[in-house]
This record gives sequence, structure tokens and C-alpha cells, in this order.
Amino acid sequence: MRVLVTGGAGFVGSHTCVALLEAGHEVAVVDSLENSSEAAIDGVARATGCRPHFKVADCRDTKKLEQIFKEVQPAVVLHFAGLKSVAESMADPLRYYQHNIGTTAVLLAVMQRCEVFQIVFSSSAAVYGAPHELPVAEEAPAQPTNPYGTTKLLIEQMIRDITFADPRWSAVVLRYFNPVGAHPSGLMGEDPEGMPANLMPYLLQVAVGRRASLPVYGIDYPTHDGTALRDYIHVMDLAEGHLAAMGYLQDAPKGTHTFNLGTGRATSVLELLRAMRHVTGVKLPYEIRGRRPGDVAELWANPEKAERELGWRATRTLEDMCRDGWAWQSQNPAGYSYRRAGYNPAD
Ligand code: NAD
Ligand code: WQD
Repeated sequence: MRVLVTGGAGFVGSHTCVALLEAGHEVAVVDSLENSSEAAIDGVARATGCRPHFKVADCRDTKKLEQIFKEVQPAVVLHFAGLKSVAESMADPLRYYQHNIGTTAVLLAVMQRCEVFQIVFSSSAAVYGAPHELPVAEEAPAQPTNPYGTTKLLIEQMIRDITFADPRWSAVVLRYFNPVGAHPSGLMGEDPEGMPANLMPYLLQVAVGRRASLPVYGIDYPTHDGTALRDYIHVMDLAEGHLAAMGYLQDAPKGTHTFNLGTGRATSVLELLRAMRHVTGVKLPYEIRGRRPGDVAELWANPEKAERELGWRATRTLEDMCRDGWAWQSQNPAGYSYRRAGYNPAD
């Protein structure tokens, strides 16, 4: 199929491009590069031997986006483009509402005008907030605790309303849990700008010597070792989840279909740290800090609906996540950043 990937130079989008190309799809990427680098597209090309068609554009630019749709003529859109920092969204909520909702509103309008009616949307476990029951299933009440999560929930609703109003539309909403790891080649990975906000990239930067120690936010949670529990999922499992979602869209009943993409396994901060020590052989010092505001004690997925209806299941282990993340970080200690100035993909 011909697939348009918004935000395809980002962490999850670029890994999904690899899975799409390896499955024989034709891939076009549109990305503003506001949180990524074209080096990620070079990484996709090197990992697959196949370069996606790539356009630098902001999806809020209606004219440019419409032009891209006319050129590419996609059958389906995978929509990753958006801002994703919980902390930034709390500091500047309006930016998040304008950006995430504005981006999706323009994209949906252009899709409608160009008669492209299939979309897979990157939503988040952030829509659940602090659930009353674990593991959390799709029908649990959505109660986001930050503006980022609220933008995801509002976009989900926007997509549901559109697919309900017009039977030509069909959509899959994927609620990711905690994507980590990298393509096993070490050619691509997660490359946050500045101080990493998330656990895995922080740990990898400690392992490679860019940071002295990991701050562990809270050891007084009501969990077996006092640190918070999350559902870490390998980014290549997530990428394959998108292929399953695209397949599902081809014969799914019309409407919007929502799935958790997680492993169903809960891992504590200290367990992830120990797994990373084991894989890297690095001591990985840590310091205990107070809880991070807004964090929940426990959040992990019930992934049964995805297994039942999409025929998809995460297969990679925590060790795979650490090993592949380490392959990326150890081969690219500075991430993609050294490539931003004068990088030659032919080198
Ligand atoms: P990312 O920041 O690495 O990728 C997002 C990409 O979108 C970036 O390349 C950025 O430059 C691009 N972008 C942003 N706004 C744009 C716009 N208006 N037009 C064009 N391009 C734009 O993030 P990611 O981790 O790859 O996440 C991808 C999607 O998955 C996001 O929507 C995010 O909210 C969602 N998600 C991520 C996680 C996670 O922990 N990584 C978890 C759940 C959901
Ligand atoms: C995991 C655990 C931290 C960093 C976030 C978003 C969520 C989704 C995935 C987008 C927590 C602890 C972290 C550190 C630590 N993203 N931690 N030291 O918060 O579960 O989820 O990313 O949709 O919406 O909220 O992930 O990796 O930030 O934290 O101790 O330096 O690691 O307190 O318990 P989180 P995370």
C-alpha cells in the first residue's frame, strides 16, 4: 500500500517506516523536523536499503499538506506528528492544544478533501491517567492528568465523531504504553534534545557516560521495590502493531477502533536499571529523589483486545529492549546530533 507517515522522522515514526518498507509498502514521510532530524530518514534508508519519499513540512500548513497528498496519493495515513512532552504541556498547555489539535484538524480536513479515509492515530496510555483497575483495558474511563493526555483524548474524540458522521471513514486509535529500545542494527534510535525526560534514554546516556547518574523519582510507592511500575514496549513491536492496524483497517467494520499497544508486563524503575546493567556491563549509578509530580504509581496494559482483533502481540523481552537501545546508544554516543551539522549519509 502507499502510506503517508506524518512525524515519520521521529522516534516511533522512523521505526515504523522500517517495518513498513520491510513489508513492501511504499512510504512517504512528512515531518517538520521540529523534534527530529533528517538523519533519522538516513537511518531508515541504511537499515532497509530503501529510502522513503521525504518532505519537510508542518502538517498545519494546509496548502503544503494538500500538495503532498496530491503528489503521494496515499491509501492510508499513519499519524505520529505532534508534541509529546508531559512537562512542557503542563507549563504551556495552550501550545499543546494549538499544536496537537491544530495539526490533526488540518490533516483530517486535507484527507477528506483528497478522499483519503483511513487513518491510524498515535494515542497514548496518558489518556487513562491513574486507572482504578490494572491492567488497564480500553473501556476503562479516560481521565488524563495533564494537557498532553487531554490533547490525545480530544483527538481520539474528533476522529470518532468524523468516522461516525461519514461511513467512508475508518480509523484505528493505538494507545501506546512506554515505547523504548531501538532497531537492532544500532543505526536508529531515540534521540531526545537536551536532558531526557524519560527513563530509558536517561539510563542509556548514563551507560554511555554522558550523564553521571540516574535520578530515581520515588522509592516510596506501594510497589514491591518502592519504585513505579510501567509497561515498557519495544519500539519494533510497536512498529509491527501499526502494520497489524493497517491490515485490520482493510476489512474492519467502519468507525473508530481503539487498541492498547503494550506487553501486559509491569516493570519497576529498579528492575529496568538492573536489566540495563546486565546488558551493558556498566555499573549505572543512581540517586534517589522525590516523586516526580504527576507520576502514577502503576500503569500497565491489558493487551488482549489487540491480540484478539489485530492478531498482534508484543514478542520482545525487556532484555531485547535494553540490548537494542544499547546498540544504538553505544554506536552513536551523541545520538543523531553530530549528524545535524554536515552529516553525509554516504560516510
Ligand atoms: P517524536 O517527537 O520523536 O516524533 C514526532 C515527530 O513529529 C517529530 O519528528 C516531529 O518533528 C514531528 N512533528 C511534530 N509536529 C509536527 C507537525 N505539526 N507537522 C509535521 N511534523 C511534526 O515522538 P515519538 O516518540 O516518535 O511519538 C510519536 C507519536 O506517538 C506522538 O504523537 C506521541 O504523542 C505518540 N506517543 C509517543 C509515546 C512515547 O513515549 N514516545 C507514547 C505514547 C504516544
Ligand atoms: C517511567 C518511570 C518515572 C525518568 C511518559 C508519558 C506518557 C508516554 C510515555 C507519551 C516513572 C521514572 C523517569 C528518570 C525516573 N508518552 N523515571 N528517572 O512517565 O511512564 O510516561 O512516556 O505519550 O504519556 O507520561 O515514562 O519514562 O518518563 O517514566 O525515575 O530520569 O521512570 O518517575 O516512574 P512515563 P517515563
